[in-house]
Amino acid sequence: MIDLQTKLVGLIGKPLEHSLSPWMHNETYTRLGLNMAYLPIEVLENDLETVINGIRKMNFIGFNVTIPHKISIIPYLDDIDPLAKQIGSVNTITCCNGFLKGYNTDGEGFVSYLETSQGINCSDKVFLIMGSGGASRAIAMTLAARKAKKIYLFNRTIEKAKQLASEIMSYYDCICQAKNLDDTTLKALIKKADVLINTTSVGLYPNIDQTPVKYDLLSSHLIVADIIYNPLHTRLLQEAKEKGCGIVTGEGMFVNQGAKAFAIWTKQPAPYSMMKRVLEEKLI
Ligand SMILES: NC(=O)c1ccc[n+]([C@@H]2O[C@H](COP(=O)([O-])OP(=O)(O)OC[C@H]3O[C@@H](n4cnc5c(N)ncnc54)[C@H](OP(=O)(O)O)[C@@H]3O)[C@@H](O)[C@H]2O)c1
Repeated sequence: MIDLQTKLVGLIGKPLEHSLSPWMHNETYTRLGLNMAYLPIEVLENDLETVINGIRKMNFIGFNVTIPHKISIIPYLDDIDPLAKQIGSVNTITCCNGFLKGYNTDGEGFVSYLETSQGINCSDKVFLIMGSGGASRAIAMTLAARKAKKIYLFNRTIEKAKQLASEIMSYYDCICQAKNLDDTTLKALIKKADVLINTTSVGLYPNIDQTPVKYDLLSSHLIVADIIYNPLHTRLLQEAKEKGCGIVTGEGMFVNQGAKAFAIWTKQPAPYSMMKRVLEEKLI
C-alpha cells in the first residue's frame, strides 16, 4: 500500500509503454516487502525542467531516465558522477533533500554481465561495437576504463563514431578507431575481433527480421552480444548461435543496470537474482 512513508522512485522518458522497468522494480519491492513505488512518468522535452523541480519537492529518493532525456537532463543536475560525465549521459539519479546527482549504470551493467557470463577479461580482448548512440557511448567508455585492448566503432553516421573514438582516447590509454559501415571493412575487422556488440536498434521489435551484421560475415571464434532485449534472441543472436559463436542477450545488461540503480538508491546490495527472475517471468 502506498502511504506517506512510501519512498518514490520512477522512470522519466517518452514513450514508456514498452518499458519493463516499472514491472521489474515494483514486483521486486513487493516481494521484498519494501515500502517503495516505481512510477512511469512520461515527460515531453519542454516539460523536463518543470517535472524535475516537482521531483525535488516530493518524496523521491531517485529515478531512472531514458530516451529522450538522458543527455538533456544533465544541466538540471546538482552533481554528476565522473564516469557519467565522460559518457555524456545519465540513466540513474539520486534525490536527497532536493539535491540531484546523476550516474550512468548502462556501461557497467553491460560490461560486468559480459565479464561474468563469459568469464572474460576485457584487457586482452578486441571489441567491435556496432552503433555510436547513447548505449554505445556508455559501453565503449566503460570498456576503455577496463583497459580493453582495442575498440572498433562502426556507425551509420561515421561522424558520431569519430567523435566518440576521439573522446575515448582523450580520457583513456586505449586504441579506439571509427570505421565505415561496409561489409569489406567489417569482414576484415571481424577476423581481428574477439567480441562483437550490437548497440544499434537494428533488430528491435517490431523489426525482428533485421540484423546489423550479415550471416556470412559472422565467424565462430566471436562472442556476439546484443543489448536489445525485445526480442531476447534477436536475428543477430540466432544466426551467431547457428555459426557456433558464444552469445550474450540484452537481458543481463537490463537487469544489471536496474540492480545497480536499486543499490544506489537504497544503499543496500541489490537482489539481482530476484530481479532477473521477475524480468524473465515477463519475457518468457
Ligand atoms: N539492455 C539494456 O538494458 C539496454 C539499455 C539501453 C539501450 N538498449 C537498447 O539499445 C538500443 C540503442 O539504444 P540507444 O539509447 O543507444 O539509442 P540511440 O542513442 O538512439 O542510438 C541508436 C544507434 O542505432 C543506430 N541505428 C538506428 N537505426 C539504424 C539503422 N537502421 N541502421 C544502422 N544503424 C542504425 C544509430 O545510428 P546513427 O548514429 O547513424 O543514427 C545509433 O548508433 C535500443 O534498441 C535500446 O532498446 C538496451
